[in-house]
Amino acid sequence: MPKPQPELLIRGAQIVSPLGSSPICGEEMRHLRVINEGWIACSDGKILGLGPMDELVNHVTVDGCTEIIDAAGKVVLPGLVDPHTHLVFGGSREDEFYLRAQGTDYMEIMTRGGGILSTVRATRAASLEELVETGLQRLDWMLSQGVTTVECKSGYGLDLETEIKQLRAVQILNERHPIELVATFMGAHAFPPEYAGREDEFVEVIIEEMLPAVAEQGLAEYCDVFCESGVFSVEQTRRIMERARELGFKLRLHADEMTSLGGAELAGELQASSADHLLQITEDGMTALREGQVMPVLLPATAFTLKKPYAPARRMLERGLPIALATDFNPGSSPVPSMLLTISLSCLYMGLTPEEALNAATLNAAVSIDRAEQLGSLAVGKQADLVIFEVDHYSKIPYFIGADLVETVIKRGSIVYHKPRFRGGYEC
Ligand code: NIG
Ligand code: FE
Repeated sequence: MPKPQPELLIRGAQIVSPLGSSPICGEEMRHLRVINEGWIACSDGKILGLGPMDELVNHVTVDGCTEIIDAAGKVVLPGLVDPHTHLVFGGSREDEFYLRAQGTDYMEIMTRGGGILSTVRATRAASLEELVETGLQRLDWMLSQGVTTVECKSGYGLDLETEIKQLRAVQILNERHPIELVATFMGAHAFPPEYAGREDEFVEVIIEEMLPAVAEQGLAEYCDVFCESGVFSVEQTRRIMERARELGFKLRLHADEMTSLGGAELAGELQASSADHLLQITEDGMTALREGQVMPVLLPATAFTLKKPYAPARRMLERGLPIALATDFNPGSSPVPSMLLTISLSCLYMGLTPEEALNAATLNAAVSIDRAEQLGSLAVGKQADLVIFEVDHYSKIPYFIGADLVETVIKRGSIVYHKPRFRGGYEC
């Protein structure tokens, strides 16, 4: 039988990947498949094969049409997946960043009309074109960090028109940028000032007007709610989520971020795709996530920025839960677009091993956006989303904190990013 001729072949690298396409839980998160001096070949946007270099000749034929990347001394991983961001927003909030740095609390700023509501004003004022332009720039930041798939939430409109403008921006960005986007409607992110004292009426507007309109226009795959003291109660969240599910949305939840309100328990009951933040999760919350097979998505860059205690990751792993990681990139609690920094923080402050952190940022992150069949691990037939890192062992990825480690990013088999090199002041 003739051997296939790949369009792209990477050879000589340490090839590192989670195993399989199912959630990786507890103890299993300590394992990765590692091929030292390996090859990986791609065609038609998919992975054609991979293995150790000494077996390459048995598997593929290389001719002049094959693009070859020599990656000896480098590491290849699946494209990183960032399953929780608020990427599309107007304005910025560096003023609050410095206030918080000097001790003011995040929720206190929000109660004073700043925080999310400040970004709501700026996002309402921004044009669709401005949101797309700033979105493209932020996606470039993420791509150069090895990210190939990003979940994006609305939630800075809090009125139908602006929520739709944000989701339209996500749709346009998905067409224009190589990063693949997954859209989430989050109209229940805060109560808009015009509904002050009439919060339940706003819940009705979400249920009766916003959710049906977003569903009809097919603008979002998920619905998310900020379930928190002083924001959406467990009961309000349940009503929104149940209606969302009836309309065909899958569910994610901002749960137990500042207080142990019962968000994780609700996510378990509703069998949501993910429960995110979980800084204040209780033992009952962990049981509920396990029973409901909900992916916990942990956001250490938020705890870092807000100077809050980190989510109890080791306790969750001991209880056999899986863990995914995300940046929570947003203008307030996490102005951090970097999955690489997130990975480093998860090791330093939540005690993850490099293997656990990399499983969490690839396959488990893909599971949380229901894309594990296509993304998150290197296996024949999966989408060819790959990153080449300029380190010789994967354990150096979390270790070189904040370094520019990504050399090349491949999305659906095509090179979409290659790091510019500077030697003695000129680009070569
Ligand atoms: O996930 N917690 C609620 N929402 C965001 C913060 C958004 C903002 O501060 O603008 C979060 O942390
Ligand atoms: Fe968030």
